Amino acid sequence: MEQTFLMIKPDGVQRMLAGEIIKRLEGKGFRPVAVKMMQMSREMGEKHYAEHRGKPFFPDLVAFISSGPVLAMVWEGENIIRQCRTLMGSTDPGEAAPGTIRGDLGQTMSRNIIHGSDSPTAAAREIALFFQPEEILAYSRDIDKWM
Ligand code: RTP
Ligand code: MG
Repeated sequence: MEQTFLMIKPDGVQRMLAGEIIKRLEGKGFRPVAVKMMQMSREMGEKHYAEHRGKPFFPDLVAFISSGPVLAMVWEGENIIRQCRTLMGSTDPGEAAPGTIRGDLGQTMSRNIIHGSDSPTAAAREIALFFQPEEILAYSRDIDKWM
């Protein structure tokens, strides 16, 4: 089953949107296999967003992502990487479609509530950055056969 790394960013935690977001993911039928509250160091923020190093927004992005607690998660499901990007909506919440997390709950690019892996390579890298293998559970639910 495909896995993705999702993270409720500091703005989402401070705005108490974690429950709303998890409700949407659970409602979709996806399965959480690892969840952890943590505060990222600057170094970890730089590693997480390494692909953006050198871009003008990189310093502010790293400062923001390490500015408060985040909720780091691994979720599983069919084609979940793409499906979660769709559920999240466009990077800029001002452009994101209504019905998406960013489109419904956000206003600006620099406070877009949630991160989600954008490819299988990114998912594997990000999951390994945030979790030890033994922290990721393998289990099934009776309801999974109805998904
Ligand atoms: P994320 O990695 O956080 O899930 O967001 P994303 O894939 O939708 O967007 P990405 O291109 O990876 O950008 C990472 C974060 O950097 C900020 N950003 N600012 N000012 C700008 O032009 C700009 N471009 C990107 C956004 O906060 C975005 O989430
Ligand atoms: Mg990204």
